[in-house]
Amino acid sequence: MAIDQQPDVRAMPMPPGERGLPFVGNSLKFASGKMVATHEWYEKYGPVSWTRAVGNLWINVEGPDACGAVLQDRDRVFDASGWSVLIGPFFHRGLMLLDGAEHHRHRRIMQEAFTSERLAGYLSPVNDTIASGLAAWPTGSLHFYPRIKQLTLDVATRTFMADKIGRESQRVNRAFSDTVRAATAFVRVPIPGTRWARGIAGRRLLEDYLRPRIAAHREGDGNDLFSALCHAQTDDGERFTDEDVVNHMIFLLMAAHDTSTSTLTTMAYYFARFPEWQERCRAESLALSPGPIDYAGLDKLVSLDLVMKEAMRLISPVPGVTRRANRDTELLGYRVPKGAYLAVHLWGLHHLEELWPEPERFDPERFAEHRREDKVHRFAYMPFGNGVHKCIGMYFGGMEVKAAMHQLLQRYRLSVDPGYRMPVDWVSLPRPKDGLPITLHRL
Ligand code: HEM
Repeated sequence: MAIDQQPDVRAMPMPPGERGLPFVGNSLKFASGKMVATHEWYEKYGPVSWTRAVGNLWINVEGPDACGAVLQDRDRVFDASGWSVLIGPFFHRGLMLLDGAEHHRHRRIMQEAFTSERLAGYLSPVNDTIASGLAAWPTGSLHFYPRIKQLTLDVATRTFMADKIGRESQRVNRAFSDTVRAATAFVRVPIPGTRWARGIAGRRLLEDYLRPRIAAHREGDGNDLFSALCHAQTDDGERFTDEDVVNHMIFLLMAAHDTSTSTLTTMAYYFARFPEWQERCRAESLALSPGPIDYAGLDKLVSLDLVMKEAMRLISPVPGVTRRANRDTELLGYRVPKGAYLAVHLWGLHHLEELWPEPERFDPERFAEHRREDKVHRFAYMPFGNGVHKCIGMYFGGMEVKAAMHQLLQRYRLSVDPGYRMPVDWVSLPRPKDGLPITLHRL
């Protein structure tokens, strides 16, 4: 809608909502992750409501119409710089934090690193790293989450940087975790020992790790993502500077690493709880090709695709995204003041009863052709977001997750104690509070 055709938003009512506690608002809930996996706001106030947290006005957005309107952002009023208040100091100038023409330009360049030709090239190091990583896993009882997190980190460093980070692996891994977790810190100044300070230190470590490696990647002709970013060029000759490459690499490593880890963990959990789905996917993998999957084979893992989708619905790896209103605007008839932050509840969307029958039930078949519950509304299912910021790595992510599960299912049978239910920590991206104790039986 053109600006001069916009309704007078100042005449519109503010959405319903609550301030929370005196002074701190709902900051404590925010820092503990309790504002994420909940329908609290939706049930109390409907699809659009307000609250205060970490010193700002927040508009909670849930339900397909409201989430779709914000992410589609037809009037260009919701800036992705909303992310800056959460992760800006750690992931500044990552693609997701850019807006407008600048975002468009950077996305066009980055797209060159995600063509299907490039993706097919990444698959071989992805497969090799998974094979050697899994070969070192013990059988018996173990905590799945730290193992798979290490494996996806190895995949990222090998595929993204053609690098074996060996001794530095633990430090780099810690730096990632610290930067991601700092997003939901309650104390948001770098006082030593705080989550925020650890995030800042993590960012510095990652910069120091990447910068000295740029020259070699610009000169070489590697088929890793780092090289792809160094060489990416649009038809009109636009390229990334060295600083762009560092900023994008840090963001991409984070964006790829924890999301895949979370998805794989959720899938392993549900496979262990629902052996019939585990057997179905294993049979499909064994019938297709023993050993690593090839690029053409990925589309044939039909049941695994259903399980991945259901896992991302039940425990959405990115449970919410944020935006900031760049002027007074409206959402579903309510006023959204300039400067307000918006929390778009993707987890909530994926658990709404009006969209998903028995939303808490693990039922991958709901995504099968004969049901397609995700099609009940255009914006019912958005684990990768929507609009101009829709995940650029969604095919990479799907490829990695399926390649890993394809190999894992061929090697091991997974089980958990009967009655086990995975407790989820929603601070930053979802992960099991107990590391997901699981038993692996060699096949
Ligand atoms: C299961 C895996 C993944 C999930 C669920 C996921 C989810 C998301 C979501 C929800 C967004 C939108 C954020 C917003 O609207 O503000 C996003 C953006 C993004 N993701 Fe992913 N992601 C995954 C894997 C990856 C991978 C593997 C990469 C890179 C290799 C990646 C790179 C990015 C980038 C660069 C953006 C920003 C895009 C832009 O702003 O134009 N993601 N992702």
